[in-house]
Amino acid sequence: MVKPGEKVKIKVKVNGVQYEGEVPPRKLLVHFLRDDLGLTGTKVGCDTTTCGACTVILNGKSVKSCTLLAVQADGGEILTIEGLGNGKLHRIQEAFSNNFALQCGFCTPGMIMQTYYLLKEKGSEISEEEIRDGLHGNICRCTGYQNIIKAVEEASKVRS
Ligand code: FES
Ligand code: FES
Repeated sequence: MVKPGEKVKIKVKVNGVQYEGEVPPRKLLVHFLRDDLGLTGTKVGCDTTTCGACTVILNGKSVKSCTLLAVQADGGEILTIEGLGNGKLHRIQEAFSNNFALQCGFCTPGMIMQTYYLLKEKGSEISEEEIRDGLHGNICRCTGYQNIIKAVEEASKVRS
């Protein structure tokens, strides 16, 4: 049992780097990534599991990191937008750029991480309907969705 004010040790691998730290038990994963690790590419849009701006990959599955506690990721492997392209643009990022699939960019890291998960699951056989369904938990307030769909379709056809 954790006493009030006590912190909990966690170990996570993020973008291939092992981190150990102590967090308050109620700290959200998104705040651990942004505030403790400085990985501010992951955004907080709503804090209520609605917008998807905070999407990251945890142990191979996409998760909304505002919906998990940091302690729930203990022992896990996380991929954030910073780790996606390995120092250059990932094909999904290129496709978003090619198709003008972003304006302010606030939703984009979450869109891209969710797209990464979708394409990993479905590959190049993904249909427009599956893309729309797969991104239904990610909200964009700028672009409308048509160019985002086009970007995902383009990315699905490019070999990584
Ligand atoms: S900030 Fe996590 S879903 Fe909006
Ligand atoms: S590009 Fe602005 S919210 Fe999506």
